[in-house]
Amino acid sequence: MYRTHTCGELNINHDSQDVVLCGWVQKSRDLGGMTFVDLRDRYGITQLVFNMETNPELCGKARKLGREFVLQAKGKVRERSNKNLKMPTGEIEIESTELNILNRSDIPPFTIEEDTDGGEELRMKYRYLDLRRAPVKNNIILRHRFAQEVRKYMDEQDFIEVETPVLIKSTPEGARDFVVPSRMQPGTFYALPQSPQTLKQLLMVAGFDKYFQIVRCFRDEDLRADRQPEFSQIDCEMSFVERDDILNTFEGLTKYLFKKLKEVDFSEPFIRMPYIEAMEYYGCDKPDLRFGMKFVDMTTTVQGHGFGVFDSSEYIGAICALGCSEYTRKQLDELTEWVRRPQIGAKGLVYARYNPDGTLKSSVDKFYSPEELKRWADATGAKPGDLILLLSGEKKKTLPALSELRLEMGSRLGLRTKDKFVPLWVVDFPLLEWDEETQRFYAMHHPFTSPVPDDLSLMETDPGKVRANAYDLVINGVEIGGGSIRIHDASVQKLMFKVLGFSDEEAEAQFGFLLNAFRYGAPPHGGIAFGLDRFVAMFGGQDSIRDFIAFPKNNSGRDVMLDSPSMISQKQLNELQLILGGKK
Ligand code: AMO
Repeated sequence: MYRTHTCGELNINHDSQDVVLCGWVQKSRDLGGMTFVDLRDRYGITQLVFNMETNPELCGKARKLGREFVLQAKGKVRERSNKNLKMPTGEIEIESTELNILNRSDIPPFTIEEDTDGGEELRMKYRYLDLRRAPVKNNIILRHRFAQEVRKYMDEQDFIEVETPVLIKSTPEGARDFVVPSRMQPGTFYALPQSPQTLKQLLMVAGFDKYFQIVRCFRDEDLRADRQPEFSQIDCEMSFVERDDILNTFEGLTKYLFKKLKEVDFSEPFIRMPYIEAMEYYGCDKPDLRFGMKFVDMTTTVQGHGFGVFDSSEYIGAICALGCSEYTRKQLDELTEWVRRPQIGAKGLVYARYNPDGTLKSSVDKFYSPEELKRWADATGAKPGDLILLLSGEKKKTLPALSELRLEMGSRLGLRTKDKFVPLWVVDFPLLEWDEETQRFYAMHHPFTSPVPDDLSLMETDPGKVRANAYDLVINGVEIGGGSIRIHDASVQKLMFKVLGFSDEEAEAQFGFLLNAFRYGAPPHGGIAFGLDRFVAMFGGQDSIRDFIAFPKNNSGRDVMLDSPSMISQKQLNELQLILGGKK
């Protein structure tokens, strides 16, 4: 037996017991007569003590230990004289009697402790060492617990976990596919699934009724903190359901996970907000509702006073930043520069301070009298001490800019705390998106998304107005999940393809397998997929999903540890009948 206990479980109740521990040397301290070694494993850290007086040979051996050496240590548990009550094992130490070096280690390239001196690139290159660090290890354990709870809930709700293939045909999720060349059928390619969307619909045709899968998805798209080229979904589909059946089921899952893993109770049903409302009041389809600062449309209130910028704007929107009237000129200039950055794209910022003494002062005093400014305050609900911020321009561009400003002010005011969670369902997304460049409609989600039944008649007359029977789960401004009721009626599907500009042949070539299946009795069905990595990262209190994935890719999609993607041999290229050429 290598060990009797782990490095995380011994405490004062084990006093005087003989134990054997295994683990890695986190650090050792040589204090003359005594040498202390912190031995680490997955479960914790235990202090080993070696005494020069009582056992000089063993102590000499301990002094030569390097960081990350793998040890087996035997000894007796004893109460520490110098206790560390912050550690679960901090009341005891092991008086060592035997030490076996199971393996040596090179000097690690960065410190493997709670805080490390290793930069991101280095930590990723030696990810197996980074994973020894408690914060990263705990994230992976949280992910494990999260997945277990998902499975428990879904099983209790009678969902069946079915694995779907990874080598498939292109799926319509809107990103680029990763492709894999076929050796057996040269010149042809598999695509890796952007999601198992079509397969889960086929499982509904197969009669599985309630399906789920924790599944890897692959998307070749620009990466961000919350996007990886391969990520995991909790993918779900149900038959004989309407939108509310799905929302209720998965609101249940969400509440269950919050309760089990965060001890957060949501007693109220989640808010359901139509897409147009989200855009109008928050300027984005994933509003962060941890704080207010709802947009106020000031267009009619502020136009007609000779201020050209406003008078020539399609839309003027305002937010009220509570308690910010003391913002200095310098801070406001800096905020103006901030909204002018290309990522935000506003041309300028107009502000009005509602001073604590009740006077109002704006950056456009030339055009607006104090009475008029008071009307601004009434419209925005501003009180003495608050600051009104206005952006203007084309509505389509101003709403997102104001959204960024709202989020920025929310952050500056400390309103976006990690321990507060406000979930909502955004519903009634547009079914189609018009693309100016190609002058055609695209499916906002995917081409199997059903229109809201009331809007079906608009499909041919005003497709841009049709709402989709689709929904997103948004928590704290993050899109955690999304799904829809699907089209199961062949005539509606045909109409959808027509609006999307697919000929019968094109639809057949791309989705023939699904359309075929639908000829054999497709039940009404719908589903949803949650981004597992995002959900877990939120529970872990972080924005980046990377540290919740054991072996993630960097922002350029590289695995720096495996050095991938990389070249393949000429032999492999020949087998696949691939010739590498320049860019076409
Ligand atoms: P969707 O494309 O909205 O829907 O994806 C579902 C959820 O997956 C997460 N997600 C990602 N997470 C990390 N990295 C990425 N690159 C990434 N892309 C998406 C998000 C998102 O909400 N088949 C449909 C679902 C359905 O209709 O049932 C789908 O994949 O949290």
